[in-house]
Amino acid sequence: MENDEYKSVENNEYKSVENNGDEFYSNAVHYWSEIPATLDGMLGGFGFISQTDIKGSKMLLKQLFNSKDHPGRDYALDCGAGIGRISKFLLTDVFEKVDMVEQNEAFLEQAEKYLGPKFSKIGHFYPQGLQNFQPEEGKYDVIWIQWVLGHLTNKDLVNFLSSCRCGLKKNGVIIVKENITSSDSIEKDEQDSSVTRPLRHYHIIFQKAKLHCYRQVKQHNFPKGLFPVYMFVLKPKEDITNSCSETNLILENDGVCENIEPNSEKNITSDLEKKIELTRVDDVEAPEENSVKDLLKTECIST
Ligand SMILES: C[S@@+](CC[C@H](N)C(=O)[O-])C[C@H]1O[C@@H](n2cnc3c(N)ncnc32)[C@H](O)[C@@H]1O
Repeated sequence: MENDEYKSVENNEYKSVENNGDEFYSNAVHYWSEIPATLDGMLGGFGFISQTDIKGSKMLLKQLFNSKDHPGRDYALDCGAGIGRISKFLLTDVFEKVDMVEQNEAFLEQAEKYLGPKFSKIGHFYPQGLQNFQPEEGKYDVIWIQWVLGHLTNKDLVNFLSSCRCGLKKNGVIIVKENITSSDSIEKDEQDSSVTRPLRHYHIIFQKAKLHCYRQVKQHNFPKGLFPVYMFVLKPKEDITNSCSETNLILENDGVCENIEPNSEKNITSDLEKKIELTRVDDVEAPEENSVKDLLKTECIST
């Protein structure tokens, strides 16, 4: 059953990505090598959404630290860290030490300057693609992965998440924050060489990596025209039994957050919104789907 479900994310549309994995990665390396090492560069010209993004993430962490069996606050890992935007505004405020993994060395070189005094909290830099990276076993309380997973093939994503599972300390969690399509299909972006996945694919991939989705929260208050953005708090399967009853989140289907009907992103969202105290930064309309990146790219090209 689990394998059949997984096969459904390896559909025809997706095959060209997996079959051309090397090119998929080298094109992304090329794309990012031409992007400036700035906040705007990291967010494709949408640097102004950073504060809202960080606010939503802070609220999620706050809720998490108020829950039973919460993670510790010693060590975090920032994955696809870029110049360290999340390390600077979120992780170094919460954790004693933060490591950063990022494929583009120029971004890491900029991080020292960008982080300023907060750089003292940075432990290690790993200048590597996530597809080649394995966190040290049992090292991290929180592994934060944001706006980078679209650059991994499904296979590498499952392997990477599995190795992150092994990289967690007791009560540790992985937090994924990513763009999501509103349809049930992936959307390919040839320009930056990435895919945007639907919720259903992420849930199947989490299961395959033996992770339970403990909490799922939609980020609000982003401008219209962006993909919906979701945060997922993931725990190793073996850790979940007690913590789950703690939140009102009903875990069914062996780790899927809800009874998720394919093609029903709306239902998933609204049902979950009722079941969990959603991190709602402000009351704003849900953003319309459209590629943020497309908008951004227009800016990147013109600058
Ligand atoms: C949209 S930026 C996001 C940066 C950071 N996570 C943030 O939210 O500010 C994507 C980052 O992922 C990095 N990246 C792309 N593909 C990667 C890969 N395979 N492994 C590691 N990092 C990658 C890019 O170099 C870039 O720094």
